[in-house]
Amino acid sequence: MQALDLLLERRSMANLVEPAPEGKFLENIIKAGLRAPDHGNLTPWRFVIAQGEGLRKLSDILVHAAQVNNSPDAVIEKLKKAPFRAPMVITVIAKVTPHDKVPALEQYLSAGCAAQAMQMAAVAQGFQGFWRSGEWMFHKEVHQAFHLQGEDQIVGFLYLGTPGCTAMKVPERKMGDFVEFL
Ligand SMILES: Cc1cc2nc3c(=O)[nH]c(=O)nc-3n(C[C@H](O)[C@H](O)[C@H](O)COP(=O)(O)O)c2cc1C
Repeated sequence: MQALDLLLERRSMANLVEPAPEGKFLENIIKAGLRAPDHGNLTPWRFVIAQGEGLRKLSDILVHAAQVNNSPDAVIEKLKKAPFRAPMVITVIAKVTPHDKVPALEQYLSAGCAAQAMQMAAVAQGFQGFWRSGEWMFHKEVHQAFHLQGEDQIVGFLYLGTPGCTAMKVPERKMGDFVEFL
């Protein structure tokens, strides 16, 4: 796949089936994340990979947070199943180092770039992905389970797998609606 095709035609896909990217494919995905732009060389990233038993652990973490919140049963049931929508979920964490010139926001952006780079690396190798978030990403119990410290933040759950359907058409967007010249 040409780099520009990847950039211009990429779609996310929620329908993800086995197999998950493993071996060299997974290595490339992580390496792409590690090439995210990084002001001050702070490497503000942690990637927590869940597969198989790991997906069950992620499910337990989310369910526990919802129980602490006294969420309705329907919410808890939905959360319990959530991680199993793909054969692999990578929790992307911004590991924030306090720094005079690099505020936490820049480090969150860097982790976001890492998530995007990993999704693209998956697509480039014939896999697919879907970036998810939700209120649980910000929940204290979830942060504790992932050992977040200080200003660390989960920036997303990157669901990865093999495409389970054909990708949707890329939406038409008029450049003029987004671009201005100074
Ligand atoms: C930080 C972030 C969090 C997201 N969280 C969710 C989510 O929880 N649920 C969801 O349906 N889409 C979420 N999305 C959007 C999807 O990942 C996806 O980008 C969207 O469905 C548009 O599809 P496309 O990427 O093919 O244009 C999120 C995107 C970002 C950047």
